[in-house]
Amino acid sequence: MAIVRATTKEYRRASSVSKFLTQHDVDFRQWDIDPVEKIVRGKTALSDSEKSEVLSTYSREIEALKRQNHYVTADVVVLSPQTPNLENLLAMFRKEHYHSEDEVRFIIDGSGVFTIRGKDERLFDVEVSPGDMIVVPARTWHWFDLKPDRTIKAVRLFQTTAGWTPIYRDAKPN
Ligand SMILES: [Fe+2]
Repeated sequence: MAIVRATTKEYRRASSVSKFLTQHDVDFRQWDIDPVEKIVRGKTALSDSEKSEVLSTYSREIEALKRQNHYVTADVVVLSPQTPNLENLLAMFRKEHYHSEDEVRFIIDGSGVFTIRGKDERLFDVEVSPGDMIVVPARTWHWFDLKPDRTIKAVRLFQTTAGWTPIYRDAKPN
């Protein structure tokens, strides 16, 4: 279950987390993780067939989201201390940026923290864990970091096939 840490408050209950995030146009849902727990837990990598199994397990939810928000493709991303180039990747994720499309992540293993600049320009953290599905809307400033165990597995959805393209805040006059 996600934890939201805002300037003066922390939210842990699903209803309060959803309510807070909705106020900032961040879509948050929880999907049942049980069907894939055995496939993903404790592994530092997933085979192509394991990734396909994950995607087909959630095909109904994924198709519904695709129809709703015009996503065209989905994949499974796995990061672990064994991931080549992990530190360089994290350095890119940690710089404040936005995307021209939504950033959609359904966490199936591990955890991480999105820091999002809310509509009031204040920052808040969303610590995501297995079962959390989050949509950081297009053109919303944010960054992301892993927890000290440096482990996450997530389903991603995309509105274009261009993939993960960040626009960095320090690259734009503001
Ligand atoms: Fe991002």
